[in-house]
Amino acid sequence: MTVTPLKPSVGTAHTRVEGREKVTGAARYAAEIPFAELAHGWLALSTVARGRIAALETDSALAMPGVLAVLHHGNAPRVDTGHIGLLGVPPDPSAALFQSDRVPHAGWPVALVVAETPEQAREAAEALVVHYEQEPHDVAFSADRPDAQPVDGHMPAVTGKGELEAELAASAVVVDAEYTTPEEHHNPMEPHAATARWDGGRLDVIDSNQGATWIQDALAKIFSLDPSAVRVRSEHVGGGFGSKGIRAHQVAAVMAATALQRPVRVVLTRRQMFSLAGHRSPTTQRVRLGADPDGRLRALEHRSVNHTSTVFDFVEPAAGVARVMYDADAHHTANHVVRLDVPTPTWMRAPGEAPGAFALESAVDELAAKCGIDPIALRARNEPTAGPVSGLPFSSRNLLACFEEGARRFGWADRDPRPGVRRDGHRLIGTGTAASSFFAGAGPSTAAVTAEADGTFTVRTAASDIGTGARTALTLIAADALEVPPDRVRVRIGDSDFGPAMIAGGSMGTRSWAWSITVAAAELRERLALGADIPPEGITVRSDTTEALAALAQKERHSFGAQFAEVAVDVTTGEVRVRRMLGIFAAGRIVNPLTARNQLVGGMIWGISMALHEGAVRDRASGGNIGADLAGYHVAAHADIPHIEVDWVDDPDPDDPVGIKGIGEIGIVGAAAAIANAVWHATGVRHRSLPIRPDRVL
Ligand code: MOS
Repeated sequence: MTVTPLKPSVGTAHTRVEGREKVTGAARYAAEIPFAELAHGWLALSTVARGRIAALETDSALAMPGVLAVLHHGNAPRVDTGHIGLLGVPPDPSAALFQSDRVPHAGWPVALVVAETPEQAREAAEALVVHYEQEPHDVAFSADRPDAQPVDGHMPAVTGKGELEAELAASAVVVDAEYTTPEEHHNPMEPHAATARWDGGRLDVIDSNQGATWIQDALAKIFSLDPSAVRVRSEHVGGGFGSKGIRAHQVAAVMAATALQRPVRVVLTRRQMFSLAGHRSPTTQRVRLGADPDGRLRALEHRSVNHTSTVFDFVEPAAGVARVMYDADAHHTANHVVRLDVPTPTWMRAPGEAPGAFALESAVDELAAKCGIDPIALRARNEPTAGPVSGLPFSSRNLLACFEEGARRFGWADRDPRPGVRRDGHRLIGTGTAASSFFAGAGPSTAAVTAEADGTFTVRTAASDIGTGARTALTLIAADALEVPPDRVRVRIGDSDFGPAMIAGGSMGTRSWAWSITVAAAELRERLALGADIPPEGITVRSDTTEALAALAQKERHSFGAQFAEVAVDVTTGEVRVRRMLGIFAAGRIVNPLTARNQLVGGMIWGISMALHEGAVRDRASGGNIGADLAGYHVAAHADIPHIEVDWVDDPDPDDPVGIKGIGEIGIVGAAAAIANAVWHATGVRHRSLPIRPDRVL
């Protein structure tokens, strides 16, 4: 008998393992799981943007049908806000509800009304009378505010080498431009929702989040509980990308479940998400580039300013992208922050890189045009051999391979570089390109792999599949690591009882979880190879990648990509339509081409949305968002999206056991710049403020 060797599963297209459950409705999301005796909480939000709560008239709300309790700063339990949270810093105190009478922004939670039904809770919350002592507020964001100051965030605020002004003065060609991006809001399909209950002395929370153990850890610290007394589950998550961390609704649900000793569910409405889910800060960025006539950079300066709240410093590190992309004799970057009476911004897909690459990659395109050099050739001339700021070697950097392949497929060689000369009826046609990059990292994770007595395998890890296809990718990873077909592997995720794990964030989730699964599976195979008998409860091996990751050599670790766009600009309406887009990425080994393509196309769609549609309006009078819903806040719809082609070049990460780098975020990076550069090529006009709306084009 001949034995056919098993073909690897990694690299083959595989539909989602939970796809059938999702499309048949069998997959239940956080707000859909039934509980006996379930009560419903509704958050009442402040109508003023700054001040203090003078009085709450709770008696009339408590007298309304079905109302069980009203929680507010006068009766809520004191919680711990001084602890160390994710990334080693004290967390945003916005999640620590009802701790004082201060109101730091419009839409701040001032009370939770709990009732038998969601409708009763909502009616009472909307009828709740709150008296405020209002103070003048300030939500006016601009770059030239004297109170803008450098703030580190998760990277140093300022980097610098060389004499900037001298190199600019010595440059034959200079670009000095200001770019702005607007406030952008998270709108995952599934709104934030949590149900909390006490179950035999343990706090049990069903939630929609990007990391069950993250929320477990945060709730344990906030409520001063032993982590083992808290269980958080989030098997299915309908979108996240930065907004689904520890937030007001989980804390509200726990407070109410504790006060009432009943399960309590708190769901945010789409409107409430505009002040409670976090947003991407607006940015104003100044980029100065100085080059020799051949395009070689002598000077690069990238300065960014973003807003944050008065209660937490959140940095949108837009200038960080320049620290990786291009070197120059004088190289200076800075991230500044202005504190305003607004909700704290948060991570949104490629925080920093997405707005940062819009500015930097637009400026590089402007420089290429001024030098009379093809923008791809100009980038090739400025490829650094090491990290421009760190000086560290790149683990791998295949940016030029992406441009080469992209240019070939897009037909870039035939491009007439002159702007504003191609017409199709009443439309001007143009093409543009931009580079992408995103940090490629991994975080410590644990996993357990069990060989079951029936010959199947069960993997348990507290991963969160926010719609990325992570669970399916992990199934393929485990199958290869165990040398079995994927249908013999079941992957269980979204349960903090599975042990510490990386969050679904920073494009690091799948890679981090895959690493821990690979380690556990390898050890299990060794044990099975020794001929171990499998007892009824199976044989389980656990792994922890903390030490392996700590031993990794210091390198610049990034994914790269090349984005191409063709646009048609209607000269009568000012409407910009993207006609086609192509993205070629060097983003590590691709685990599942089917869901990987989804991810990368999804990022590019978000980039189209960022370039042409998205922009929240913050009203200076009220301090809140106008049009805080999907009618007022435009995101790209199907009809806005053309054919998008995505592919990748071979780029396995040399230090990852599977070769993964992570693909969650890179698809959005550079997409808006490629479109803006194409709009310039079509019209001859530079658009340095997003979104490129018809009224700005005309
Ligand atoms: Mo992503 S912005 O790290 O969820």
